Amino acid sequence: MSQKLSGKVALVTGGSSGIGLATTKRFVAEGAYVFITGRRQTELDAAVNEIGNNVIGIQSDVSNLADLDRLYATIEQKQGHLDVVFANAGVGQPRALGSITEEHFDKTFNINVKGLLFTVQKALPLMPEGAAIILNASTASIVGTKAFSVYGATKAAVRAFARYWTLDLKERKIRVNAISPGTTPTPGYDQFGFNEEQAKEFVESQAKNIPLGRVGTPDEIAKAVVFLASDDSSFVNGIELFVDGGMAQI
Ligand SMILES: NC(=O)c1ccc[n+]([C@@H]2O[C@H](COP(=O)([O-])OP(=O)(O)OC[C@H]3O[C@@H](n4cnc5c(N)ncnc54)[C@H](OP(=O)(O)O)[C@@H]3O)[C@@H](O)[C@H]2O)c1
Repeated sequence: MSQKLSGKVALVTGGSSGIGLATTKRFVAEGAYVFITGRRQTELDAAVNEIGNNVIGIQSDVSNLADLDRLYATIEQKQGHLDVVFANAGVGQPRALGSITEEHFDKTFNINVKGLLFTVQKALPLMPEGAAIILNASTASIVGTKAFSVYGATKAAVRAFARYWTLDLKERKIRVNAISPGTTPTPGYDQFGFNEEQAKEFVESQAKNIPLGRVGTPDEIAKAVVFLASDDSSFVNGIELFVDGGMAQI
């Protein structure tokens, strides 16, 4: 059977966990050579060991521009170009209006917005005509959840970037699309500060609002990212692809 990403070189930021890890597994299975990043070396090593071949981990923080320069220098030296960028690294913690701190705002925007912007901008010199960029947004930009306003605002910015960057990259024929996962339990949910019971309640309450009656899995998001990364989506540009069981569509 033919592979959808045969011979492609890809970058997945935040590829050591959750949606990024599931996508990296799919990318490699579809024939890509994948660079993954994350801040924690141990998690990166574990992901690389689990996947085995055609994956390399480079420790770097998307909000640190010197780290991004080092990352792209390594990719250039090892592969010379990048066909696919999945700008996935992101964080989100609950903080209700009234208790939002400058630190919370800066951290969330620095990683989810500044980090994503410079991940893409600094990748451009390595990207050939016909390359694909996928930005990880979220249903959170259009569906409210108590205490997640700063996170939702970062994801609205991400969605806007996809629209504008299709125009900025028009001459280079590089496609830019956003993917918006719905509720998809991952290790990222540990950041919420819930105990086991609270985590279960959160997931169950979310599932009630999802037409399919359940939350998603990282692999279900990964399959949609493969679509946006591959030639199957060759005329798809600037969209927000919701993968949410219908939650944000009702
Ligand atoms: N899960 C959901 O329900 C859901 C829904 C909508 C959108 N999303 C989005 O999906 C993306 C992935 O989330 P996830 O749920 O898969 O979370 P996750 O399991 O916590 O994975 C996040 C990944 O990003 C990395 N990361 C975080 N901050 C980083 C930074 N500053 N620089 C580089 N890497 C960084 C993490 O590694 P280190 O911690 O080691 O850096 C990890 O590999 C995020 O953008 C999130 O907003 C998730």
